[in-house]
Amino acid sequence: MFEEATYLAPIAQDADGEVVVQLSRSHPGFADPDYRARRNAIAALATAYVPGDPIPAAEYTPAEHEVWRIVSGELDIKHRKYAVRAYLDGKERLGLPGDRVPQLEEVSAWLEPLTGFRYLPAAGLVPLRDFYGTLADSRFHSTQYIRHHTVPLYTPEPDVVHEVIGHANALANERFAALYRLAGGAARRVESAEALEFVSKIFWFTMEFGVMAEDGEPKAYGAGILSSYGEIEEFRGMDIRPLDLAAMGATTYDITKYQDVLFLAESMDQLEDVVGGFWASCDDDSIAALAARR
Ligand code: TRP
Ligand code: FE
Repeated sequence: MFEEATYLAPIAQDADGEVVVQLSRSHPGFADPDYRARRNAIAALATAYVPGDPIPAAEYTPAEHEVWRIVSGELDIKHRKYAVRAYLDGKERLGLPGDRVPQLEEVSAWLEPLTGFRYLPAAGLVPLRDFYGTLADSRFHSTQYIRHHTVPLYTPEPDVVHEVIGHANALANERFAALYRLAGGAARRVESAEALEFVSKIFWFTMEFGVMAEDGEPKAYGAGILSSYGEIEEFRGMDIRPLDLAAMGATTYDITKYQDVLFLAESMDQLEDVVGGFWASCDDDSIAALAARR
């Protein structure tokens, strides 16, 4: 999921106290009353969630399982072509179902024995500090709703396909899981809003939209590329730049479109050295120095 104020649809309550998800006018489900009712019902589950309890099951409809089946099938084909080996390794270990939406509680039960990660339900926006900070405890906040059936190849807001196919398959690999945990530690350590924002931008350009050289070609490891069978076909044609912390911190992005600037790690070792090393030790001063380098 992503976690920027503009990002997830805000949640409100109506006069009767019912949870109402505020989809924007441009959302593909905006004018679909059935979709909006589902979004409200699923958001109500997360709103009622009590930490420590099992994650409430979302009871997906046949139409929602069908969206998962289509997207999962398309992505299986594209992952074999375009995903890094470490992601494919995690995917193999996790063994997600292809024909139905798994419950977040099931995803947790499969993932925890592999790398210790568990999922937590997010009704809507999770503040940056909490979203990243809990990664340090091997906890991943996730949406539960699924994208609108009219645009299965890309959604403007993260959904359960992105959270689970994009992130859980990566979190099932030890080396990626360790990087996510380091991002969480960094988010807890830094103090200023600017430093936290910098940490989150590095996450955006790596764990969400990162690419890595393998066999001389750019392959994807970022969850945002790996959950969209539209975007995954396009990333090799984007502006691909060398891995550079100061450059990532200074680059702006539009969350509603295919990402046109990407950063390439030369290898998993380089990603761990540069980005893992940064998250492991950064503080407000070191980040201010990196931000001043531009
Ligand atoms: N576009 C992604 C998909 O179709 C989901 C997504 C929306 C996303 N916004 C994002 C992923 C921001 C990462 C970051 O699967
Ligand atoms: Fe995400």
